[in-house]
This record gives sequence, C-alpha cells and structure tokens, in this order.
Amino acid sequence: MASRRVVVMASGTGSLAEAIIAAAGEAYEVVALIVDRDCRALEVAQVSGVASVAVIYKEYADREQWNCDLRDALRSFQPDYIVSAGFMRILGAPVLEEFGGRIINTHPALLPAFKGAHAVRDALEHGVRITGSTVHVVDAGVDTGRIIAQVAVPVALDDTEESLHERIKVQERALIVRVLNSSDPVAAQ
Ligand code: GRF
Repeated sequence: MASRRVVVMASGTGSLAEAIIAAAGEAYEVVALIVDRDCRALEVAQVSGVASVAVIYKEYADREQWNCDLRDALRSFQPDYIVSAGFMRILGAPVLEEFGGRIINTHPALLPAFKGAHAVRDALEHGVRITGSTVHVVDAGVDTGRIIAQVAVPVALDDTEESLHERIKVQERALIVRVLNSSDPVAAQ
C-alpha cells in the first residue's frame, strides 16, 4: 500500500498533531501542518521537520477568501486525507467542494452529544458520567458529519474541565492514529 499523504490542521497546542506526526510510518506520511493562528502547533511542525503554512484567519476581512487561500494551501500538498486536529474553524464551500469526504475531524465528546467548541465543559456541566472522543467526516455543519470511530472516557466526580480534557486527549490521540492506520480511514470502524 502506498503511503497516504496527510495534511494536519491545528489551532492550539498541537498535541494531537504531534501524536499523528510521531505515528506516521508505512500507512501514512504527514506532508504538512496548516494553522489558522500563531500557536504552538507551528513549533511541533518545525521540530518534526514537517512543512508548515499559516493561513491566519484574523488577517482576512472576507471569510470566503480565507477559505479559498486555505484550499489553495491544502491543494499545494496534494493530500489524500486532511485531519482537523484541534482546528477551531468551520470549513466553507471552497474547501469542502474540493476535499469533501476526505476531511476527518476529531472532537472531544461522544457525538451527537455536545457539539461545538466547548464540548468538554458542556459535558461536565450536564453531569454525564461517560463522555469521550469522536472521529468523524467533516461536512458543512458543526460536528455533524458521519461518525467513523469513538472512544468512551468515564467522568470522575472531581474532574475539572482541564483534567477531563487531558484524559480525553490521551484517548483522542490514540483514536485518530488508529483511524489513520486503518485500511480505509473514512470508513466506520
Ligand atoms: C482536542 O481535544 C480537539 O478535539 C479539540 O481541541 C483539542 C486539541 O488539542 N478540538 P491539542 O491542541 O492538539 O493539544
């Protein structure tokens, strides 16, 4: 099997990106990391020798133009798959029309529960005893795409948002790596 070309997109500390890059091997290679803001994920790419591109969202008055520039940056790396790994932006039509069905997102909750940017806090406030992480295909909605894989994480009675998120991220990193190493990363598993 030829190694798949994966582009990772991130907005934060980049620990998911780091795990994805570290686990690259026979099944896939990470050909680039793209960020939408100045963040630690950029350092992760630099330390790992992975090409990085910043398409800084805040520098754009026009959201459509940002999407077009993001699409062009993605296109330049000819990805087989794109992983949104802590990338905190909704993808618009220009990106989805070109790469739809091949973009994978990882979310820190058991979808369809707790969609959106505050999934860990929302799960904690709701009082669920089990939450987790979901890897899913990206569509035009917010965390609405078809589910690929999930992992459950029990909530401790004394959990804070930070402690719970850290435990979820441990599972989340393993889950996305497992999905990328599978024979078909967008098939349910
Ligand atoms: C992950 O939990 C991801 O699902 C969420 O943000 C976190 C990213 O963590 N959207 P990191 O920046 O990769 O450490």
